[in-house]
Amino acid sequence: MKMKLQPSIVLLLLLVAVRLPSASSDDQLVLGKPLSPSTTIISDGGAFALGFFSPSNSTTSASSRDSLYLGIWYSGITELTVVWVANRESPIVTIPRRPPSASTPSGPTLALTNDSNLVLTDADGRVVWATDVVVAAAHTPGVAVLTNAGNLVLRSPNGTTLWQSFDHPTDTFLPGMKIRIARPGPFLVSWKGPGDPAPGRFAYGIDPSTSLQLFTWNGSRPMWRSGAWTGYSVASEYVASASAVVSLAVVDTDEDSYVAFALSDAAPRTRYVITHSGSLELQSWKSGGAGWHTLGRWPPHDCSRYDYCGPFGYCDNTDAPPACKCLPGFEPASPDEWRSGRFLLGCRRKEELRCGVSNGDGEGFLAVPDMKVPDRFVVIANTGATGCAAECARNCSCVAYAHANLSSSSRGDATRCLVWLGDLIDAKKLGGSAAASDTLHLRVPGVSTAGRKKERNKMKIVLPVIAGVVLVLACLSIVIWACKSKGSKQKHNNFNRLIGLGDLSTCEGFGTGSPNEGFEFSLLSFRDIAALTNNFHTSHMIGQGGFGKVYKAVLDGREVAIKRLSRNSDQGMTEFRNEVVLIAKLQHRNLVSLVGCCSEGDEKLLIYEYMPNKSLDALLFNNSGETMLDWPTRFRIIKGVAKGLLYLHQDSRLKIIHRDLKASNVLLDEEMRPKIADFGMARMFGENQQKADTKRVVGTYGYMAPEYAMRGIFSTKSDVYSFGVLTLEVVSGVKISSTDRTMEFENLIAYAWNLWKDRKTNDLVDSNIVGTCVHDEALLCVQMGLLCVQDNPNDRPTMSYVMFILENISATLPIPNQPVFFAHTNNQVENVTGDTQNSKNNLTLTILEGR
Ligand SMILES: *[C@@H]1O[C@H](CO)[C@@H](O)[C@H](O)[C@H]1NC(C)=O
Ligand SMILES: *[C@@H]1O[C@H](CO)[C@@H](O)[C@H](O)[C@H]1NC(C)=O
Ligand SMILES: *[C@@H]1O[C@H](CO)[C@@H](O)[C@H](O)[C@H]1NC(C)=O
Ligand SMILES: *[C@@H]1O[C@H](CO)[C@@H](O)[C@H](O)[C@H]1NC(C)=O
Ligand SMILES: *[C@@H]1O[C@H](CO)[C@@H](O)[C@H](O)[C@H]1NC(C)=O
Ligand SMILES: *[C@@H]1O[C@H](CO)[C@@H](O)[C@H](O)[C@H]1NC(C)=O
Repeated sequence: MKMKLQPSIVLLLLLVAVRLPSASSDDQLVLGKPLSPSTTIISDGGAFALGFFSPSNSTTSASSRDSLYLGIWYSGITELTVVWVANRESPIVTIPRRPPSASTPSGPTLALTNDSNLVLTDADGRVVWATDVVVAAAHTPGVAVLTNAGNLVLRSPNGTTLWQSFDHPTDTFLPGMKIRIARPGPFLVSWKGPGDPAPGRFAYGIDPSTSLQLFTWNGSRPMWRSGAWTGYSVASEYVASASAVVSLAVVDTDEDSYVAFALSDAAPRTRYVITHSGSLELQSWKSGGAGWHTLGRWPPHDCSRYDYCGPFGYCDNTDAPPACKCLPGFEPASPDEWRSGRFLLGCRRKEELRCGVSNGDGEGFLAVPDMKVPDRFVVIANTGATGCAAECARNCSCVAYAHANLSSSSRGDATRCLVWLGDLIDAKKLGGSAAASDTLHLRVPGVSTAGRKKERNKMKIVLPVIAGVVLVLACLSIVIWACKSKGSKQKHNNFNRLIGLGDLSTCEGFGTGSPNEGFEFSLLSFRDIAALTNNFHTSHMIGQGGFGKVYKAVLDGREVAIKRLSRNSDQGMTEFRNEVVLIAKLQHRNLVSLVGCCSEGDEKLLIYEYMPNKSLDALLFNNSGETMLDWPTRFRIIKGVAKGLLYLHQDSRLKIIHRDLKASNVLLDEEMRPKIADFGMARMFGENQQKADTKRVVGTYGYMAPEYAMRGIFSTKSDVYSFGVLTLEVVSGVKISSTDRTMEFENLIAYAWNLWKDRKTNDLVDSNIVGTCVHDEALLCVQMGLLCVQDNPNDRPTMSYVMFILENISATLPIPNQPVFFAHTNNQVENVTGDTQNSKNNLTLTILEGR
């Protein structure tokens, strides 16, 4: 054994010996070889460069002369983008003050000294900047390496890190950097101006007073706050472009606690930067080199600025646009100011607390869910949920509390009890179950059971009214938008009339356009639609769905499908509103488009473009032995559906979870191009929200991901699951609910997995298409489908990765896990959930609320 190994060791040593000299010249700075303005160091991998630069449009006092800085920038992009500056406070002026003498070098240099320090000197030999590392005297000097992550690392000869630029950041936060919880205060400090790297007034870092949240500051004043860490074990995902995922996380382990962010392998250059104008931005380099694209900006709008809504006010982020409101039990302190859009005075109590005066008066706490809790809290250590409530209850000056479980091993205290003793400022309402959301328990006077009951009765009456108002507003805003965008287009259509919108009647005819502009959205009257369909005659009926009947008609010379929702259906109302609001905002060639809507009394109708080839299930699952769908068509359909879904998940301005993707919701146009339909159940997500849960599980069994079907948790990954099922159906021509062809296996997924495992994937392919089937493509689709239906949502690919797979037939795919079939016994169900939780225990990840 030993003898056999030796030659390979020798070979390895040789390889190392051969590689070393070439490596040392490019990405390293060694003793006796200083860096001058004419040279740069490029990281091994080529991502970053270290060298001297001169920012354009310099605003320093030496404006007539050029100022030189030592810095690190992205190598290989067209725009000079500096991520780190050594001497940001002391630029090197390139015109030497004294004529160069023989004893000084002729220009500025960066040199490694024999005591393992980096020293930057100007043309006069004056030290401008140095690393100031103190090491024991008399040892061989180390080396300075620029890593491919953009980190300049000074290493001692034994390999230990003596100094690194990642520990001394300027305005840019790069993947691999750590914002250490133990090092609170400004971490990034902005440049002073676009051409001036000197420290500006804006900073970003961890809150020094609690270490539980992040801030951006303007001088010493907070500008934006992330919200207190809730300890959720959820990794955030930001999708920069196809197959690029950016995750911001809190990593909390025994060794270290820090905030970091990571990129998927295929992601473009991505960075957080605190700009000279004061916003924190997440920027990504556009593929094609067209510049930086801002994925996120904080604060995103006025309402999310720190303390914008004043004491006891909050920013309701679920409103569009987000708006200031008063916490329950509070009203604007000055209604006039509030109405005119000045919220600084905030809100005051409608009824004073009588705490301490009469204890038996039922004073208590009101739970306000989905909140980014206010700032200026006091952290009470080692206090669980009940203890936290008691702590607040027993002190009259405590106005609120919030409790969370931090699944932390390092601090030994997994509780997080926050109490508030003064004004509640900078609270925010987040979209349902955002990872950073908390329940705020607010002290309110006189909460009694009787009072609650009254309130509930009131809600019953109020809710339908609100729903109606929302619908009218939604339609109204669409109308106004349509008017604006159409401008003075000639009007010639009698059908497009506005119902009950009085003043807006001048908008008549907005719904038409020249034919090549495609469909526009319009409101129609019920009478006109009845006329179009010959009073909803059965001869016009082309289908019957879950929420009503579908008719075909001709509107403006175009064929349309009219969906008439069944009357008096509570569900229908919600879905109708959902669909109108959502679809009107979505434009993609793989999504069915809404042509118009109508709401009059009980009648709710949706009008879509007509799809002559009906739905995918009708063509896929006919047992006639013939099929209109050959393999190339099927492959195009899979790709088209993937594109539509990717658009919903990432590319539209909203993040949308469809929740009911299935073959019958994929419609086919005259060229067999697929379009995803039926957005009645779709949910809009906040930009940063990853998952949600719901009490009401809607969807179609078989297509529903296990975590959604069993626990009501849905995310983009539950759509990915449905997409996986759909893909397997398209390849096999077998319905997920069918047991005809799946032999002894439980369902199509089990059947497909077993064939794939036994390398008999070809047997899965629909026998009707064997002639046209491209086996590599089919195999790829099956393996991808199996990846999508994996039990653990984290194991499933994102739609951007799916798209990548479909566009790169030769891609090597991961091996899918064996699917866990819906368990028959409770035992198995418990196993399923147990496994998912275990896999998350190593790291604690959470998003820092980013709005
Ligand atoms: C520098 O100034 C020019 C003209 O004044 C402007 O077009 C350019 O965008 C500026 N560059 C930067 C980096 O600000
Ligand atoms: C380090 O360099 C300085 C100046 O170049 C020299 O005076 C000193 O002797 C050197 N020290 C060692 C340990 O080589
Ligand atoms: C490596 O060298 C540094 C200083 O050069 C010293 O402080 C450290 O103890 C050394 N570490 C090891 C493992 O030898
Ligand atoms: C930062 O603070 C200064 C001084 O209070 C103020 O003039 C400036 O408008 C602030 N900038 C921003 C972006 O809020
Ligand atoms: C209540 O909180 C206030 C403010 O921190 C404190 O001064 C006071 O001692 C507390 N009272 C009790 C009974 O704990
Ligand atoms: C914290 O954990 C306890 C016990 O595990 C649980 O009862 C409580 O609901 C949790 N609290 C929150 C806010 O998740």
